[in-house]
Amino acid sequence: MPSLPPGRLFYGGDYNPEQWPESVWLEDMRYMKEAGVNLVSIGIFSWAKLQSAPGVFHFGWLDRLMDLLAKNGIMADLATATVSPPAWLIKLHPEILPTLADGSRQWHGSRQHYNPSSSAYRAACAELVTALATRYKDHPALAMWHINNEYACHVPADYGNETAAAFREWLKQRHGSLEALNAAWGTAFWSQHYYDWSEIIPPRAMPSFQNPGQCLDFARFSSDALLECCLVEQRILRAITPDKPVTTNFMEWVKALDYRKWAEHLDFTCLDIYPEPTGSSRPLAQNADMTRSWRPDVPWFIMEQVTTHVNWRSRNATKRPGLMRLWSYAAIARGADGICFFQWRQARAGAEKFHGSMLGHGDPATQRCFQETKQLGNELAHLGEIAGSKIRAETAIYFDQQNWWALELPSKPNADLKYNRGVENFYTPLLRANLAVDFAFAVSDLSRYKVVFAPALYLVAPGVAEKLEAFVAAGGQLVLTYFSGIVDEHDRVHLGGYPAPFRQLLGLEVEEWAVPPDDRASSLAITPAGAALGLPGKLASSFWAEAIRAEGCEVLATFTEGYLAGRPALTRRAHGKGHAWYLGTELDAAGYAALVKTVTDTAGLRPPLAAPADVEVVERHAADGTRYAFVLNHRDEPVTVSDPSLRGRELLSARDLAGALELPPLGVAIVRR
Ligand code: GAL
Repeated sequence: MPSLPPGRLFYGGDYNPEQWPESVWLEDMRYMKEAGVNLVSIGIFSWAKLQSAPGVFHFGWLDRLMDLLAKNGIMADLATATVSPPAWLIKLHPEILPTLADGSRQWHGSRQHYNPSSSAYRAACAELVTALATRYKDHPALAMWHINNEYACHVPADYGNETAAAFREWLKQRHGSLEALNAAWGTAFWSQHYYDWSEIIPPRAMPSFQNPGQCLDFARFSSDALLECCLVEQRILRAITPDKPVTTNFMEWVKALDYRKWAEHLDFTCLDIYPEPTGSSRPLAQNADMTRSWRPDVPWFIMEQVTTHVNWRSRNATKRPGLMRLWSYAAIARGADGICFFQWRQARAGAEKFHGSMLGHGDPATQRCFQETKQLGNELAHLGEIAGSKIRAETAIYFDQQNWWALELPSKPNADLKYNRGVENFYTPLLRANLAVDFAFAVSDLSRYKVVFAPALYLVAPGVAEKLEAFVAAGGQLVLTYFSGIVDEHDRVHLGGYPAPFRQLLGLEVEEWAVPPDDRASSLAITPAGAALGLPGKLASSFWAEAIRAEGCEVLATFTEGYLAGRPALTRRAHGKGHAWYLGTELDAAGYAALVKTVTDTAGLRPPLAAPADVEVVERHAADGTRYAFVLNHRDEPVTVSDPSLRGRELLSARDLAGALELPPLGVAIVRR
């Protein structure tokens, strides 16, 4: 498999030299070397500069840039430049422009203005990518390919006529016959029956609730349509440069794209992430773990983050000094082998001129962004031994993209149901407890895990319940939560009493849902069985409740109010060598922490080191058995971490530790153990 040169961490950013006179490029090289930059992403938005008409290319400037990079020992992550079709192409093929659900069009003048199913767009991409790959295939600066940019960032789906035709073809492949489609979509409802494929359209603006089966298939189709755009390019690159890795930059928590499926076609995954600088590091950690989990076999990259502040929030808070460094190490701790930024040099014009950068508008000698960039780059240059080491998690959060799409379709018992709520509920306490966590999918091998949390698993496709049951039988602790096991892959209810696919495993039936009308919390009472497992005296419950009838499970907590008083809220059933746990309500943060502790204690899980609150500890494991413990102080005050096993060389200070470590505010240590 094509890969990047081993034994080093990659450091750099998006570089847009076409926005600057070539005299500035020399200065860029000098500052890049000063900052330890070894990789830049170039050409991302360069289509208009590279091509002025079909077959008419202008590679001179890119030739000079590639030569300059090679001369300075900086690798090119060469973009395929297809994200922003130039004005001349739109004039020639206006049908490329996207159509929204209400039938209106979007225009040229910003970026990503293309319909993924447009054949003219795909053909133009193929022409450009072929020309680029042919020209630079042997260039010494070429290290990897960056396909397009943030697919679905602005246009996740198109609703026009060309898309409708492509959607019908996709549906024929999926369902085989109209009869099967009518059955899958439940079109006997509201007179929705189809007699001919040509009657079917994308779920455009409609008077009332759309058909859920149609919406679910359209979500799948739209992800596949963009994936096909990516594959049009990937196939060309593979044919012309089989030894060069290809990737495309993923974003955080993206609903539109089934990234797990996408990742199979890339040589490694990478993440663009811009957490609110005044918020917690949870989004960074969670998305880092997800990005790694899409392709657990290879290291991943942060492809974009910002040194200071973005320009696209209504108030663009800045990262306080030290935070960029801390969060960069937090990503490396979770397996990143590359740390890159948007962008190298802050733009002078255009919509992003007030977006933070590695090199700002002012004097680099006094710029905080450049000084912090330089410090981090020079540190990473000495940490090459970490590259390629892996995370070994014994806990997983089960994640299913189809479930996400289906769960958040409208007309549910509670409109505020969100998949991320369920994921975060478990992710947050696992992060705080410093227990490493992977995301696992229908295709994952679960045997490596001791605990699997499967929140809000509403859609259960064929084979999934069997897989989870086998995990429990083999000794795993499985935690399922409310509104799970409800529908099949077409969003049709699994009959046989909720949650039909899990009833036997859980030993219960959910007779009905009892969603509270407001946010008021009530309390759960802990049963002696729950107390014996270490659950605290009381747990707070809100948002959702269920009338659960125990059919062979242990009851660990019960509701205390209304007609549900005394009925089970939290249960557990032994099955084979493991347990299947079920939570029929929403807890508060303390409740989830208690539940996670109880379950992970049952499985005998321990963090790598004892550490005070808000000190993150994550370990990377090298193939030779060396472990690198990343100790990250998220507090704005110094901390002491003491643990008898905290021994070995601290790599950033090059000191040997003997069981304790002082960390300054936002400080980082990497201990080779
Ligand atoms: C990303 C994008 C970059 C830049 C950045 C600004 O979404 O890929 O090109 O626009 O956001 O935060």
